[in-house]
Amino acid sequence: MATANNPRKILVTSALPYANGSIHLGHLVEYIQTDIWVRFHKMQGHQVHYVCADDTHGTPIMLRAEKEGITPETLIANVHKEHSADFSEFLVQFDNYYSTNAPENKELSQSIYKKLKAAGKISTKTIEQFYDPVKNMFLPDRFIKGECPKCHAKDQYGDSCEVCGATYNPTELINAYSAVSGAAPVRKETEHYFFKLSECELFLKDWTRSGTLQGEAANKMGEWFENGLNDWDISRDAPYFGFEIPDAPGKYFYVWLDAPIGYMASFKKLCADKGLDFDEYWEKDSQTELYHFIGKDILYFHALFWPATLEFSGHRKPTQIFAHGFLTVNGEKMSKSRGTFITARSYLDHIKNPEYLRYYYAAKLNSTMEDIDLSLEDFVARVNSDLVGKYINIASRTAGFINKRFEGLLNPSANNAVVSEIKASANVIAESYAAREYGKALREIMRLADLANGFVADKAPWVMAKQEGQDAALQEVCSDALEMFRLLTLYLKPVLPKLAGEIEQFLNIAPLSWDAVATSLLSQHRINAYEHLITRVDGKQIEAMTEANKENLQATPTPAPHSQQRHAEHQQAASAELAEAEYISIDDFTKVDLRIAKIVNAEHVEGAEKLLKLSLDIGEDKPRQVFAGIKSAYDPATLIGRLTVMVANLAPRKMKFGMSEGMVLAASDERGGPFILSPDVGAAAGMKVK
Ligand code: 2FM
Ligand code: ZN
Repeated sequence: MATANNPRKILVTSALPYANGSIHLGHLVEYIQTDIWVRFHKMQGHQVHYVCADDTHGTPIMLRAEKEGITPETLIANVHKEHSADFSEFLVQFDNYYSTNAPENKELSQSIYKKLKAAGKISTKTIEQFYDPVKNMFLPDRFIKGECPKCHAKDQYGDSCEVCGATYNPTELINAYSAVSGAAPVRKETEHYFFKLSECELFLKDWTRSGTLQGEAANKMGEWFENGLNDWDISRDAPYFGFEIPDAPGKYFYVWLDAPIGYMASFKKLCADKGLDFDEYWEKDSQTELYHFIGKDILYFHALFWPATLEFSGHRKPTQIFAHGFLTVNGEKMSKSRGTFITARSYLDHIKNPEYLRYYYAAKLNSTMEDIDLSLEDFVARVNSDLVGKYINIASRTAGFINKRFEGLLNPSANNAVVSEIKASANVIAESYAAREYGKALREIMRLADLANGFVADKAPWVMAKQEGQDAALQEVCSDALEMFRLLTLYLKPVLPKLAGEIEQFLNIAPLSWDAVATSLLSQHRINAYEHLITRVDGKQIEAMTEANKENLQATPTPAPHSQQRHAEHQQAASAELAEAEYISIDDFTKVDLRIAKIVNAEHVEGAEKLLKLSLDIGEDKPRQVFAGIKSAYDPATLIGRLTVMVANLAPRKMKFGMSEGMVLAASDERGGPFILSPDVGAAAGMKVK
């Protein structure tokens, strides 16, 4: 049993984000969820270490670096900087944020592999795989494209069709081509290394029953067991950005082998920096606790491969795995065309305050794998009503009197019923945080904030302040209200750590830990001047943010191909785009006014990475101004005088650089582009395309 002198030793992780994309609001659900849990347990006095890292290996990262003309090491260093800044600005406080491409990870991955091999859990098998004969590399399924065998949609990925949802083998694709070079892939034999998961079934069944998983996750495991466990292919052939397998030249660990070991590596670095005992946390019979926060899409890796890897390499297993659901925005999958695929940076640029999002997510989060919805309208209403209207209001209506009339000195009552009631909720709130029932915790805290506001409204200090002989009562009421405010701040601190820090400063108190519930603001305690703590969020900021994200889409006609992206990113975004793009009727088509346009001017736009400003003559009085995301493919001077095709009846859009009055059509995919469309000889500006 942990006590104050003998705190629980807890190691916590969040899933390692891939180093080939930006952090977006979908990712942040998990990091905010974990950070709140970690901060809460730290406030309880436990010894908690929260580690994470960029997941840096694999083919997509290697190819992206090549495309950008930089080394993978430079690419991942840049992304590490970007991710670290995003997390830190969202107040996600890792004890170490590392990289899987680190010496500790190489050593641990290789030694774990050797232990698995010594335990007889590694086998080799010759398999046939698609190979790009131009690029001289084996192709992961997501890098093979072709026509869907079911619905015949073109340009579908090698594992599933995003138009009809069918899943298949890349061999079934019609007219398959390599997404890397465009060449037709050939089949080629290669020897791969396998982890014999099929032999781990008994161990895993036993482990599943040990209370490590949420109910829904345990059910999912049951389905997997029923279907039978396949051995896991843990090798990839060169060229591959990753760690070489010992005694297997040209063979690399598959990214998913060394990614979870990255949890250990990040912690190992922390141990070296802080003088902690690594083995105490990872040895087979460790008495410490280990928790992994993940999204439900990667349960298979964490509930099957990972515990089996740990068990058969002589390590401890996770204490619990906490899987959460996906994020929807306004009730739908995040979508670039709706402007709801929002990066962490874009949120910060527009809304500024990260604690609004932390609060909103917390209000929506529970311990299940259900999806959570960010309703942007509700976000504005909730933040304004709870944080500004209920919580901060308590201080803003009372602190001024203490500062102005009593030189900042408090004189609380000995026994205030509302203060007692607020204190009495400490355990319920603590239990809710510990159980990841943050929504429940916040509902209770807001109920208490209502009581505090009721107390203030009832006593009406602003009336007392105008009455003779009411000074003592005024000071007492305002002091009691500030005590209520202190307690609510303590309860909200895991969610709103920055605001809590500012309030500690204002109240002139030591950083609040959970046991400060039992203390009180004392008579004659002097607070500091009250300064404005929070501003209301304005619906216009939301509009500007979604508009700006729509603009990004227009500037990038076709998203770059992704592989191995998280469900939240890949499937949510990609399938949302495609679901929207299902069949249209002829009536829909005729609504689109396509015209031949003559480019009468084309110029660079200062500050725009991807855009060119075009003036397009479509036979109207004056040319249309259109911003097109084609800068990467064209020198503007070469466009002047050319004919192209534009959508003339697209609603004008206000973009950062001015109004855009239509859209030019352009084609692109990973083979190149965007290339603008040109009509055949004979076409002239203003003609309708039918
Ligand atoms: O799904 C993902 O984004 C992976 N990069 C998560 C890895 S988590 C861990 F196992 F490393
Ligand atoms: Zn299909």
